[in-house]
Amino acid sequence: MVDKNKIHLNTQSELSMKGAGYYSKKTIGAKIAIDSLQYLITDAVSNMTESNFLRFADFGSADGGTSQELWYNLIKSIRARGDQRPIEIIYTDLASNDFSTLFKTMQGMGQNTDFAYQEEFENVYVHACGTGFHRQLVTSRTLSLGFSATAMHYVSEKPCQILEHVHMVGASEPEREKFKRQALKDWEAILRARANELVPGGRFICINFGIDENERYLGNTGANSMFESFNRHWRDHLDNGIITEEEFISATFPQHYRTVTEFSRPFIGNDCLANEIGLKLNKCFTKLTKCPYQQQFKNNKKIVSPTEFAKDFIPTVRSWSETVFRSALKGRTCMEADNIIESFYKNYENEVVSNPSDHSMDYVHIVMEIERI
Ligand SMILES: C[S@@+](CC[C@H](N)C(=O)[O-])C[C@H]1O[C@@H](n2cnc3c(N)ncnc32)[C@H](O)[C@@H]1O
Repeated sequence: MVDKNKIHLNTQSELSMKGAGYYSKKTIGAKIAIDSLQYLITDAVSNMTESNFLRFADFGSADGGTSQELWYNLIKSIRARGDQRPIEIIYTDLASNDFSTLFKTMQGMGQNTDFAYQEEFENVYVHACGTGFHRQLVTSRTLSLGFSATAMHYVSEKPCQILEHVHMVGASEPEREKFKRQALKDWEAILRARANELVPGGRFICINFGIDENERYLGNTGANSMFESFNRHWRDHLDNGIITEEEFISATFPQHYRTVTEFSRPFIGNDCLANEIGLKLNKCFTKLTKCPYQQQFKNNKKIVSPTEFAKDFIPTVRSWSETVFRSALKGRTCMEADNIIESFYKNYENEVVSNPSDHSMDYVHIVMEIERI
């Protein structure tokens, strides 16, 4: 029998996106969601005239590819109005992140040089920080604008393993409650850290995965639910004796999808946390971004076959989920783990081929604009 208390709860190894630029190449939907917020970002710095320099941070940036055009456009608009102040951009992620690809991309050494802003504009300085965003990361009161996309659903530690599912959306009530409590604690830590970092009038704009008013969340907006597919195929591997019970349980995503209520809690009431630390919530809304791969398939059924669609769809799912399943196999040889991972995603791919219209990884985000008073 597995001692379920001994299955590790540390999350760092399960968080990384696939490296060498794979993440941003395969996650067009994340870029579409980010680009749609250009107006909020541009507006946030339009009245910042007091400081000698502008400092921006991209929290949980991965390889930087998905937000590159957003930052490029922001810098372009700042320079276009004659503002030549130094601009510092700090990309933050975990120590395990592929920062090397990020630096190459910003310097135009990657495949796509279109938005290599460091080359195109003067006085722009790119830095990276490998410490988690639950802590303060820059000197107090020096951050003009903080931004974060699709990153803060990761909890700083798993409050428990989920025994019968891979994600909190399918967890038992007591398990789900533990994730909710951990996520609130983490969100409060994030807000305290950003409140310390931001200059007065500075803004923190974030677009986080969550559950919307129609109970929709990533990959669960209609027909098939992506997390049910993960769970089904992982369980099939257990039932067929390919993975052990311990490996099944270890593949618990270190994530919590907060609702709007959960995100807003620290801002509600006179004695709320936000009042204590000097933050106010300017905007909070939900946003659905349709899966670009499903859209492309739907609009081009005559030329895109179900097999071709599945070959595009699975990598986008894989770019952020693979490390969770791979980490659960850490006691295996590389070759064993590779074989299990390949058969797991192959089964999912076959499911997609047999019923392509039912599969889409639509994004559901909660967008917030928070201001430092
Ligand atoms: C799904 S990716 C999002 C990347 C990019 N921001 C985007 O929207 O495409 C989530 C990123 O958050 C990072 N991350 C997770 N927990 C983190 C933490 N505590 N501190 C910093 N980064 C974290 C992961 O390593 C990963 O690179």
